Amino acid sequence: MDQRSETNHLENISVAMNVARDWVLLAMSFMLYVLTRWMVVTLQKFTWAVWGIERVRRDARRGLQFKQSAHVQEVLWRRKLNSYAVADVADFITKHREFKHPSYVLRPNVSLYCVTRNEAVFVETPEGEDVYSGGPLYLRQFALAQRVITMPLASFHKTASDVGPPRVPFTWLSCTSRSGSSLLAHVLGSARNMRVLHEPDALTCLGRLLRDKALASGEYSQLLASAVMLLCKPDDRCGALLLKARPCITRMVEDVYTAIPRARYLFLYRNSLKSLNSCLAVAAGDPATRAMRMVLDSKVLSTIFPCGRKWLYAAEAGINEKPSAAIRPNTLTASGIATAAWAAGVARAAEFRDKGIPLRALLYEDIMRNPRAACEQLFKLLELRPEHVPDAVQVFRQDFNRSPPLPQMDTRRALPHEARQEADFVLKKYGLPKLGERVELPGLVKFD
Ligand SMILES: *[C@@H]1O[C@H](CO)[C@@H](O)[C@H](O)[C@H]1NC(C)=O
Repeated sequence: MDQRSETNHLENISVAMNVARDWVLLAMSFMLYVLTRWMVVTLQKFTWAVWGIERVRRDARRGLQFKQSAHVQEVLWRRKLNSYAVADVADFITKHREFKHPSYVLRPNVSLYCVTRNEAVFVETPEGEDVYSGGPLYLRQFALAQRVITMPLASFHKTASDVGPPRVPFTWLSCTSRSGSSLLAHVLGSARNMRVLHEPDALTCLGRLLRDKALASGEYSQLLASAVMLLCKPDDRCGALLLKARPCITRMVEDVYTAIPRARYLFLYRNSLKSLNSCLAVAAGDPATRAMRMVLDSKVLSTIFPCGRKWLYAAEAGINEKPSAAIRPNTLTASGIATAAWAAGVARAAEFRDKGIPLRALLYEDIMRNPRAACEQLFKLLELRPEHVPDAVQVFRQDFNRSPPLPQMDTRRALPHEARQEADFVLKKYGLPKLGERVELPGLVKFD
């Protein structure tokens, strides 16, 4: 063996050790949290039973206590495994505070956080803080929550039906990963009175329950309608709503359209090669995803931990996936999984037109070619006041200059040949063109 390959080998090992160490530290502190939460919850089972709290909760579940069915709890400690993790009740350790009428959740500083099979979970944030700006909604909620409010699903549906569908113009934006959707949401959000719901995870939770077949189909559509209504509850400060969904739940457009046919539906996507490169570049920036990628891309490690690939595939592509594509997740590396997520989302969007859903497709590259024309046309499309177009164009420039959100480099050469082949294989399964080729979806908006 020559000197050089030996040094490389040692270097690789030391990089791997560093990655592993970061990951172990992160995982250990998270485990400590999980353990603590488990102990607190177990202890609470006793204290809540003794203090009669559990009895009120049980009656609320049976529908006997509607007026007292919102359980307000104080947040003591919070923790998430990483910043991408989908919102969950287990993100908080709480203690009992009081029972309230469910209309408590209609306060402006209370917002829907997540939904489980048995209850809806809201969070209450300080009055002066705007939870809707400054990052994804689920992260802002997580960081700012001071109280958690849970209620049984029967109360949730009742409260939602009292509120009714959104009363202001409502736009739903679906997208593929790393397609500039945050930028676009920010640009459209610059219109006056426009509120952006940036990735509300209550919907992601529902998508996961649907994927895991944990809900009957009637139950699912009812929950979805109630969740959208309560996310879009009336608020004096907002005159229009834009809901940007996580990329993994594009499939739900169909069901949302059934519930709210009057809304406008957009789908933003980007060239498949650029999306893939961007996903891989982002994954390299965080210890948890770096460690994850190392496991996924190694044949040996993936054989020892076969659940890694399946888990990531389920998280990224599992909801949008079409069974007819017959993709076997345990054969895919990180780039195959990222491509499968892209392809599943795009394939779903492509079929919506056939189903009569007036979904308008937006291609990131087309928007970037002429941002001003794109802003003008999008404002017209969404019936926003044209006098705010200059502001929107300004946001475009600033946002784009401050933090180039999407790596623009030509990494064509950087992508290994096997990764390309794997991606092409996945795209072929979905009947889509090869990696990097232009895909024109039906309903594509042209900006000229
Ligand atoms: C939420 O707003 C109400 C007033 O609408 C206020 O009394 C309450 O303290 C606020 N919650 C938090 C956690 O600050």
